[in-house]
Amino acid sequence: MRYNKLGWSNLLVSAVALGCAQFSNQFTKTRKSAADMVAIMHRALDLGINLWDTAPSYGNGASESVVGRALQGRRDKVVLATKVRSHATMPEMVEGSCNESLQRLGTDYIDVLQIHWPSYDEPNELAIAGLARLVKAGKVRYAAVSNFNREQTDLAACVYPVASNQLPYALVWRYEEPLIQHCGAQHIGVLAYSPLGEGILTGRYDESSTFPPGDVRNHCVFFRPEVMPHALRATAVVKRVAQKHGVTPAQVAINWTARQPHISSVIVGSSSLQQVEQNATAVGWELDEEDHRQLAAAGEQYMAAAPRFRTMWDR
Ligand SMILES: NC(=O)c1ccc[n+]([C@@H]2O[C@H](COP(=O)([O-])OP(=O)(O)OC[C@H]3O[C@@H](n4cnc5c(N)ncnc54)[C@H](OP(=O)(O)O)[C@@H]3O)[C@@H](O)[C@H]2O)c1
Repeated sequence: MRYNKLGWSNLLVSAVALGCAQFSNQFTKTRKSAADMVAIMHRALDLGINLWDTAPSYGNGASESVVGRALQGRRDKVVLATKVRSHATMPEMVEGSCNESLQRLGTDYIDVLQIHWPSYDEPNELAIAGLARLVKAGKVRYAAVSNFNREQTDLAACVYPVASNQLPYALVWRYEEPLIQHCGAQHIGVLAYSPLGEGILTGRYDESSTFPPGDVRNHCVFFRPEVMPHALRATAVVKRVAQKHGVTPAQVAINWTARQPHISSVIVGSSSLQQVEQNATAVGWELDEEDHRQLAAAGEQYMAAAPRFRTMWDR
C-alpha cells in the first residue's frame, strides 16, 4: 500500500480507501450480514487500507453503526472520515449531526468530518463554521467538504481551513479535473470517489445487464442506454490493459485514478473479501506510458461522445 498526506493536514492516508456506502445494504444488490461487513473492513485494514469513508445518509445511519462495530479495538489504526447529514446548514445542526455520528460510530472523535453536499439555498459558510466549532471542541480533527465546486471550496476555506474535498473521479468522469488541479494548488487534499463508475469499468456488465429494484445502478448514468455503449468502449480498453498486466479491470481503473495528479486517496466500494483484496492491491505497481496514453484516450473519447450529466446519478 502507498500512503499520501491528506492535503496540508498531518494525516497519512492509504492511496486506496474503503468506501462504506456498501455497508448499508442500500446501494448494492449483494445483501450482507453485519458479520460479513465487519470481516471486509478488518481485511481492508490488514491490507493497509487505513482510510474509511462513511456517512449518516448511507442506510440512514446503518453504515456508521456497522463501521462502529468494526472499529472496536482498532480505532487508533483507522483514519475515520464521515459526513454531515443533509440539510444541516446551521452550526447547531452540524453539531447535532456530528454527535449522532459519534454515538453510532462508538468513538469520541472523527478524523475528517465532511459537509456531504453543498447547499444551493443557504450559505455554506455557516455549516463550515459549525465544523470549526467541532474542531475546537476536539470532536473532529479536520474539517472537510465533499462535492463542493471551486467557488464553494474557496469560500469554505476563507471561513476555516478545509483538509480535503471529496469528488467523483473515474476514467469516465473527468469533469472535475480543473477543480482537482485547483484544490491541489491550494494544498487541499482530494478524495476521489466512484473510481469504477459504480462498477461499469470492472467489465462485469453489458447492455443486457439488469439490476433489482433499489440498486443504485438503476439510476446511475453509465448504465443508461444512451450512455452505456460509450462507457463500454472505454471499459474494453481497460480490459485490454488489464490482460497485458495480468490484473483485473477494476485494478487498472483504480490504479489509473490513484496516479492522477493531486489525488490523495481513491475511495472504492468493496462488497466482498475478494473485491477488497483486489482493490487493496490495485496500487503499488505502475501502468506504463503506453497504458496511460491508451487509457487517457479512452477517457477523452468517452467524454467527447457521451452526454454530460450533473451528477453520476442524474435521473
Ligand atoms: N461524497 C459523495 O457524495 C459520494 C458519492 C458516492 C460514493 N461515495 C463514496 O465512494 C465509495 C465508492 O463509490 P461507489 O460505490 O459509488 O462506486 P465504485 O467504487 O466505483 O463502485 C463500487 C462497486 O463496484 C463493484 N466492485 C468493487 N470492486 C470490484 C472488483 N474488484 N471487481 C468487480 N467489481 C467490483 C461492486 O459492485 P457490487 O456491490 O454489485 O459487487 C461495488 O459496489 C462509496 O462507498 C462512498 O464511500 C461518496
